[in-house]
Amino acid sequence: MSNVSPIGVFDSGYGGLTVLKEIVNKLPSYDYIYLGDNARTPYGNRSFESVYEYTLQSVKWLLQKNCPLIILACNTASAKALRTIQQKDLPSLGHEKRVLGVIRPTSEVIGNYTKTNNVGILGTNGTVESKSYLLEIEKFFPDIKIYQHACPLWVPIVENNEYASPGTDYFIKKDVEELLNNSGKIDTILLACTHYPLLIDKIKKYIPKKIQLIAQGEIVAASLQDYLFRHPEIEIQCSKNRQLQFFTTDSTKDFDKHSKIFFGKKVNSIHVDL
Ligand code: DGL
Repeated sequence: MSNVSPIGVFDSGYGGLTVLKEIVNKLPSYDYIYLGDNARTPYGNRSFESVYEYTLQSVKWLLQKNCPLIILACNTASAKALRTIQQKDLPSLGHEKRVLGVIRPTSEVIGNYTKTNNVGILGTNGTVESKSYLLEIEKFFPDIKIYQHACPLWVPIVENNEYASPGTDYFIKKDVEELLNNSGKIDTILLACTHYPLLIDKIKKYIPKKIQLIAQGEIVAASLQDYLFRHPEIEIQCSKNRQLQFFTTDSTKDFDKHSKIFFGKKVNSIHVDL
């Protein structure tokens, strides 16, 4: 892929593929490179320092791959590493490059979905404890009440390919009920983890029909389209040959097998050591 400057998409594992899928649907002409740090997933229960260190390594690797723009398609990395990377690291790594996350674009629109102004958020421990959504949503929709609940087992369930297993229902029901016990007024639940769309059918079983579930893929894709339109100096750097490349820090066999479910198409990945 010489002369290719792809848009980089990063996640701790498979989850970011649910976002990449929507991005490619909306913006098919660009080149993309996906990096899943499957060897070290999940990030959700890790310390701030570890998530920052692992994410920075991944960002550096994507910059070496000539990415002018990188999307952290991982809420945990967006919550714990993005700001430091943008402010502290990027100026010396490549001041003309950009790293964006998924929390801000989601926060910008979440208020358009709720009628009761009561929103539930399901995410990893890292995302919930960071309070990033509370801080971001407050800026755009100060009247909205947010109820957060961490689901520490959901990413391991998905990464281990157990999302459709009957045993998974126990954890889905428990976590969804714990979130909804906070308030009877919640009418919108945000799946604030890019792995959770794989659990959507099970989640729907345990929430009243009047509550809408919001996944981030389409929101992030629309936001990226808008960003590229508003930033022609970045857009011009992104090559357009419709090429897709997938890299994983773990087994390519496992990645290729499971990725089809997240991405919707067969994937041929390459192993990388960061
Ligand atoms: N997909 C990541 C997110 O959106 C999962 C984080 C993890 O590895 O626990 O938060």
